[in-house]
Amino acid sequence: MKNNGGEAGEIKNKLWAIGGGKGGVGKSIVTLMLGISLARLGKKVTLVDADLGGSNLHTLAGIKYPRYTLADFINRNVESIEEVTMDTPVENVKLICGADDILGMANPKYTQKTRLFNHLKRLEADVILLDLGAGTSFTTIDFFLYAPNKIVVLTPQITSVQNAYGFIKAGVYRCLNEAFSKDDEALGLIKRGSVSVQGEPIDSIAKLYDAFKVLGEGRQERLQSCIDGLRIKLIVNMVREAREKNVSTIIKSVAKNYLSLSIDDLGTAQYDNTLYASINNMSDFLTKKRASMAGINFYDIASNIVKGMKPPKSRAKAGPVKP
Ligand SMILES: Nc1ncnc2c1ncn2[C@@H]1O[C@H](COP(=O)(O)OP(=O)(O)OP(=O)(O)O)[C@@H](O)[C@H]1O
Ligand SMILES: [Mg+2]
Repeated sequence: MKNNGGEAGEIKNKLWAIGGGKGGVGKSIVTLMLGISLARLGKKVTLVDADLGGSNLHTLAGIKYPRYTLADFINRNVESIEEVTMDTPVENVKLICGADDILGMANPKYTQKTRLFNHLKRLEADVILLDLGAGTSFTTIDFFLYAPNKIVVLTPQITSVQNAYGFIKAGVYRCLNEAFSKDDEALGLIKRGSVSVQGEPIDSIAKLYDAFKVLGEGRQERLQSCIDGLRIKLIVNMVREAREKNVSTIIKSVAKNYLSLSIDDLGTAQYDNTLYASINNMSDFLTKKRASMAGINFYDIASNIVKGMKPPKSRAKAGPVKP
């Protein structure tokens, strides 16, 4: 699936993917809380449960038995995506429920994904947030690559940092594999770069860029444009101590050195007992607008997102892939 990061126009501010590799780091909570905050900031929001193997966003959003799910759209039981979009207890927040009830739904075919993306692009909403599943399946990575805005959620735990980096790396190499899918020479080098084998000289995107030199015209530029198209932002969730916020510097530095990616911080959210205790009754939590520290953090992050949506100042290019 094509990386849509550089595509101009209609979906630029609209489509956001929320991934992170590791299970339980708070991707669904981040999706929900950002969605609610964006709605309070005046945006019409649609949340999409794109965790096709283990959907549960509807439960968090206070919907017990979804009438329709993404499966109805993917299987063409309905013609348009609007028909599977439902209201939530929160004003201006709609939801497209996930589809883990049908065998094989976790891996929709290329044509099914393309149809889904085409409908999402046209969906009437100011912001669409895609809640991705854990892991690095092609489907999850494809959703991540398709969205022009990519958020990676991690917690301060080292395992989460490792998985978040693995997720980002999988995105980079999937993007390169797609961009060079008809170029066997380039694919051979990309494969060498993607596997971590001790002693392999192509151990970074910068080295891959150098190796591409011998392949001739245009290859290095295409590689550069893949990397430039990946604009990734981090949210560190479940922070218990101020110093834990710095965990993002580790991942940013490793991504810079090995993937030639410039990653930005989008914000942090505290570990919040009120939120944790409300998980079995989020509907109550959401509609009564209970004060919570994490809620304030997510509102601040959403405010920054809205500020960033204002007519773009020209963003500095990430620079050459060489570190
Ligand atoms: N900021 C927070 N403070 C306290 N608890 C949190 C916070 N964020 C998430 N949680 C807790 O972590 C649990 C996992 O969150 P969530 O389901 O959003 O993770 P996930 O990354 O979507 O998991 P999965 O990969 O299984 O989809 C939630 O049940 C919630 O209790
Ligand atoms: Mg989830």
